Amino acid sequence: MKDFLSLAEERYSVRKYQDKAIEPEKMEKILEAARVAPTAANHQPFRIYILKSEEALKTIRGLTPCAFNAPVVLLFTYNEEEQWKNAQEPGIASGQQDVSIVATHIMLEAWDLGIASCWVNAFPNSRAAAAFQIPKQEKVVLLMPLGYADPAAEPSVKHKQYRLMDEVVKEL
Ligand SMILES: Cc1cc2nc3c(=O)[nH]c(=O)nc-3n(C[C@H](O)[C@H](O)[C@H](O)COP(=O)(O)O)c2cc1C
Repeated sequence: MKDFLSLAEERYSVRKYQDKAIEPEKMEKILEAARVAPTAANHQPFRIYILKSEEALKTIRGLTPCAFNAPVVLLFTYNEEEQWKNAQEPGIASGQQDVSIVATHIMLEAWDLGIASCWVNAFPNSRAAAAFQIPKQEKVVLLMPLGYADPAAEPSVKHKQYRLMDEVVKEL
């Protein structure tokens, strides 16, 4: 069995996919990894929309080139009313963080099952919300194309450009 750090190091953002569906049992496991993710006070304000019909894929590809040619694109939102709010710091709430944890669970579970993905922020959030009739109390956070990597896919030059440990971690 692969250890977690090897999986995390091996995963990279895939931007070229095979024309091959994701098996339903793999999709179920991927979504279960999302469902069990931690969220602030366990409020679970996240929602995941699965874009895989011809029409939905056409719409999202029309809004951003970063849907690539993936057979499935997940759209993540959080419900502003359900998110945890920090009573000690007005204006600070958990929605963005909760969704990020959920999306990370999906990205890594998917890779473990041989399914590639790419985290995507470069799209017009409000136009996507309108196009898919997302309820108004939900904020759209990110897209995640998912699918089998094309054999020609390779990591971008940025993939291994990590800062040094002492630049990003400080002991106080
Ligand atoms: C918050 C966030 C937003 C991103 N947005 C995009 C995007 O819009 N389009 C894209 O192609 N990649 C996007 N990426 C992928 C990053 O460019 C990529 O993760 C980074 O360069 C490291 O490469 P790696 O994932 O291959 O290790 C995003 C990643 C994150 C975490």
